[in-house]
Amino acid sequence: MAERPVTVLNKPDAALEMTLRPSVFADFTGQAKVKERLEIAVQAARQRGEALDHILLNGPPGLGKTTLANILAKAMGANLKSTSGPTIEKAGDLAGLLTNLEEGDVLFIDEIHRLQKTIEEYLYPAMEDFKLDIIIDQGPNARSVRLNLPRFTLIGATTRSGLLTAPLLTRFPMRERLDYYHAEQLHTIVLRSARLLAVEIEDTGAHEIARRSRGTPRIANNLLRRVRDYAQVRGDGRITAPLADRALAMLEIDQNGLDEMDKRILETIIVKFAGGPVGVGSLAVAVGEEADTLEEVYEPYLIMEGYLKRTAQGRVATELSYKKLGLKAAAAGQPGLF
Ligand SMILES: Nc1ncnc2c1ncn2[C@@H]1O[C@H](COP(=O)(O)OP(=O)(O)OP(=O)(O)O)[C@@H](O)[C@H]1O
Ligand SMILES: [Mg+2]
Repeated sequence: MAERPVTVLNKPDAALEMTLRPSVFADFTGQAKVKERLEIAVQAARQRGEALDHILLNGPPGLGKTTLANILAKAMGANLKSTSGPTIEKAGDLAGLLTNLEEGDVLFIDEIHRLQKTIEEYLYPAMEDFKLDIIIDQGPNARSVRLNLPRFTLIGATTRSGLLTAPLLTRFPMRERLDYYHAEQLHTIVLRSARLLAVEIEDTGAHEIARRSRGTPRIANNLLRRVRDYAQVRGDGRITAPLADRALAMLEIDQNGLDEMDKRILETIIVKFAGGPVGVGSLAVAVGEEADTLEEVYEPYLIMEGYLKRTAQGRVATELSYKKLGLKAAAAGQPGLF
């Protein structure tokens, strides 16, 4: 029999993300205060033999919301059912999800800010009183029937809590915001991921990746994989600081961790809009990106790092942006600048 060719299993990124995703609190680095509050809630609920209160997790992409939802369900010994705001199209979809839950189950709704308002209203009594009002029959025979639901936990995740309506927000007894990670925390995450991927990495190499990861674990893990490829092909497989630096430069990740899009945004505000203020819609068109993506993914980090300001009139580039791009600010005193 002919020998079968050896195939290298190339896991898709999603699967890899799963393997790097911590499944217990102990492996979840950083966000110490959030973690403490959640761990106490879990322990207390378990001691009382009750379901966990509903939890809203808010924060920019890639900071660990989905990860925490999984950790919470596991810590409760509960089943996790996952869905997302845009996939619930009809009230019936939501009713189907809710009526299939068992006592103590966790229902995870990702991108909960994208839930339709009409569907949101069905959630209110479900969250508050564990009741679901459904309309059966149509026309003159239509009537509302009230179903009892098991005590479940709703975990909502959102990158834009500002878009949530007040009634929905207030029905979450626990609301937690995840913040960007410090370089030291990302350093720990990179070392852990490197161990799981069995890649040799020096401490200084891990630091180089960590500090250029936009404060985001998902980006740190992605950069680690790209740097690992580079080390394998252009080096001896070992990730040192100089090698990481060369690999990141090749990926056009600059010394502060800004990528091509970050720089395009800053340059566009400065060059095309004279430093701002410019509305997010015009900016989005100019850089060829969705306004939502600008607001959810790019701006929070640029604002936190002091490159960008959000004013009532629009986005304004700060002096730091001019420095970063080596551009001169227009004459002082010009309206709209600084
Ligand atoms: N605190 C952490 N410690 C270690 N790894 C983490 C941590 N937070 C996130 N990660 C890693 O980053 C990846 C992305 O995290 P996750 O999917 O939970 O982000 P998210 O907040 O749900 O993002 P999105 O808003 O895009 O859905 C995870 O697969 C995990 O590997
Ligand atoms: Mg997620």
